[in-house]
Amino acid sequence: MKRVFSGTRPTGKLHLGNYLGAIQNYVKLQDEYECVYCIVDWHALTTLTDTKDLQNNIFEMALDWLAAGIDPQKSIVFVQSQVPEVTELHLLLSMVTPLSWLLRVPTFKEKAKQNPDNINYGLVGYPVLQTADIVLYKAEVVPIGEDQLPHLELAREIVRRFNSLLGPTFPEPIAKLTSFPKVVGLDGKDKMSKSLNNHLEISATPEEITAKFKTAVTDPARVYRKDPGHPKLCNIYRFQEYFNPTLVADIAEKCSTAQIGCVDCKALVSREIIKYLEPFRQRRAELAARPDYIQDVLADGAKRARVIAKETLAEAKQRMGMV
Ligand code: TRP
Ligand code: SF4
Repeated sequence: MKRVFSGTRPTGKLHLGNYLGAIQNYVKLQDEYECVYCIVDWHALTTLTDTKDLQNNIFEMALDWLAAGIDPQKSIVFVQSQVPEVTELHLLLSMVTPLSWLLRVPTFKEKAKQNPDNINYGLVGYPVLQTADIVLYKAEVVPIGEDQLPHLELAREIVRRFNSLLGPTFPEPIAKLTSFPKVVGLDGKDKMSKSLNNHLEISATPEEITAKFKTAVTDPARVYRKDPGHPKLCNIYRFQEYFNPTLVADIAEKCSTAQIGCVDCKALVSREIIKYLEPFRQRRAELAARPDYIQDVLADGAKRARVIAKETLAEAKQRMGMV
C-alpha cells in the first residue's frame, strides 16, 4: 500500500472550508492508502509570536480530526514535535538545499513582505522541514490545497538532489489536490479563512451558525426586500447549491423574482448546515469529554511514527557518511 502524508498547522478549530476541502479528503484516503497525518506544531512556531494557545490548539485539532472520521486504528495520527527525528533529517536536508531555492518560494516572499521585521531563519527553512516531514515516512502521495504546490515542488527538487548526490533514498512525492472547489467566506469576497475572520467553525453550535449566517453578506445589489436578487453573484447561494440541492432551483427562481427575502433564504441554508454538522458536533463533544483518550491516541501515533522515522533517518545518515 502506498503511503500518504499530510500535515496541518494547529492554528485553531477547523472551519467549514478546511473541512470540505482537506479533511474530508483525509478521511476518504484512509481506505486506499496507509495514511500518516501530522499536527505540525513546529511549523506553527515559524509565524507564531504568541504561543500560549498552542497546546490547546493541538488538542482541538486532534478532536476535529477524530470527530471528522480520521480513524487512529487505520491511520497514524501524531504531533510533529513528538517525533524529534524530523529535526535531524531537516538538518541533513538543509545541507543539500540551495538558499536561492528557498528565497524564491512564494509563501516565503509573501510572509517576508507582511512581516519584514520578523524574517526568522525558521521561516526560510519552513519548506525544508515540510520536506523532512514527508520523506521521513517515504510518503509517495501528499494531499494538499493548491496554495501548497510550490512547497511540494520544492520537496521534489530537494529529493532529486539528495538522491542524485548521495544515491537513491527517497521517493519523489506527488501532490494530490483536494478536489473540492474553494469555499468562499461569509463575507462573500475571499476564500474562507480564519485570518480573514469570514469563517464558520464546524464545531459551532446551532445558535452560532444561525447568528453567523444572519450577518453574512448576500448579493450586494439587493438592498431592499423588493429588489430582485442575482443568485449567481450571491455568496449564500453557493452554500445553497451545496447544502440544499433539492431546493436550490426554487430558491434561484424566487430570489430573482423577489419572492423570497435574504433573511428567509439564510434561515433555509443555516438549518441545513446545522443538520449536516450535527453528527460531527456530537462526536466531538463525546471526544472532548475524554482528554486522556486523545492524549493516548497521539502518544500511540507518535510511537508508530517513530518506528518508521528511525529507520529512514538511519538510512539518510548512512548516505551522508554519518555512521
Ligand atoms: N505547510 C503546510 C500548510 O501550511 C503544512 C505542512 C507541514 C504539510 N508539513 C507538511 C503539508 C507535509 C503536507 C505535507 O498547510
Ligand atoms: Fe442570496 Fe438568497 Fe438573498 Fe437571493 S435570496 S440574494 S440567494 S441570500
